[in-house]
Amino acid sequence: MSIEPTTNNPDRIISPVQKDEDGSLDTSLRPQVLKEYIGQEHIKNNLEILIEAAKQRNEAVDHVLLHGGPGLGKTTLAHIISKEMNVQIRATSGPAIERAGDLAAILTNLNEGDILFIDEIHRLHKTIEEILYPAMEDFALDMVVGKGPSARTVRLDLPRFTVIGATTRMSLLSSPLRDRFGAHYKFEFYQPEEMTDIVERSAKILDVQLSSEAHGLIAKRSRSTPRIANRLLRRVRDYAQVKSEDTVVAQDIASQALDMLNVDELGLDNTDRKLLSTIIKTFNGGPVGIQTLAASIGEDVDTLETVYEPFLMQMGFLARTPRGRVATEAAYAHLGIQPPVDTQNKLI
Ligand SMILES: Nc1ncnc2c1ncn2[C@@H]1O[C@H](COP(=O)(O)OP(=O)(O)O)[C@@H](O)[C@H]1O
Ligand SMILES: [Mg+2]
Repeated sequence: MSIEPTTNNPDRIISPVQKDEDGSLDTSLRPQVLKEYIGQEHIKNNLEILIEAAKQRNEAVDHVLLHGGPGLGKTTLAHIISKEMNVQIRATSGPAIERAGDLAAILTNLNEGDILFIDEIHRLHKTIEEILYPAMEDFALDMVVGKGPSARTVRLDLPRFTVIGATTRMSLLSSPLRDRFGAHYKFEFYQPEEMTDIVERSAKILDVQLSSEAHGLIAKRSRSTPRIANRLLRRVRDYAQVKSEDTVVAQDIASQALDMLNVDELGLDNTDRKLLSTIIKTFNGGPVGIQTLAASIGEDVDTLETVYEPFLMQMGFLARTPRGRVATEAAYAHLGIQPPVDTQNKLI
């Protein structure tokens, strides 16, 4: 059974998952060095030490596992580590490595200190994972040479390299694989001021002038996620270019542009609102099981869990209880629905 996102609606403007239109934008707006990387202070502080210590010892950095929702800056950080260490980075992803030979080819082409970035590492095939264990632990590659009774295993030495793994689903990572990473970093949603800084930085690079209110407005509607901020910024730029004569994009223009995309003042779109109103109207406010909820709004469980829920929970609109998902009083208020008197009792 596949538990990967299949229906994360690509038309959804606020989807944090990378879309085709983000490709070149993501690259051009990507901070290049740690100093330019906004927020995630806890990760940066730890990483600075990890990098400095490795440099002083003239060694490869410890294997690093990056865990966090889509669009929060995992790929960006992996590239920054390679820049800071002044080494090559080879990027691949869990599902892209299909055969043992694919991984062997990648590993034998690495140089001392290089970084192997494996995105969506929770989707690595089991057989590939087993080749990766000795590679990460002993810097060795065990290859079977020959066939049948004459087959034997040959151990090849590999250069000391670093694996940086990125995952949105820590729970799907096998524990032996998890244990082979010396450093684990968990990404948090960005703070409002950090989001404003990110919008400001991106606007400068894209050469868009925005009033400070317009900056704030985009930041506030971006679900605390840099990738979404960059995407909304670009849509606002397009809208202003067509609809406004002014050189500085004012708040009302930014607001009109985002209203047209159905992104409300807190960053919720039609699907978020549908999710909350389904819990409230169809399931009487909850609790409702995740499977049932997913089926009712036509999304798969994985997308609900990685994309919608973390944000709605952070906003205080949704709560997880042992019996299922519950809409909070704040959700009723945001949708303008009168909560039943006993809502509080359900929130246990
Ligand atoms: N800390 C940050 N500071 C500034 N911009 C960021 C930051 N993190 C992410 N971004 C922007 O968001 C985009 C998406 O980030 P990315 O690293 O691709 O996310 P992920 O790999 O976690 O899905 C990047 O292109 C970059 O422009
Ligand atoms: Mg990525």
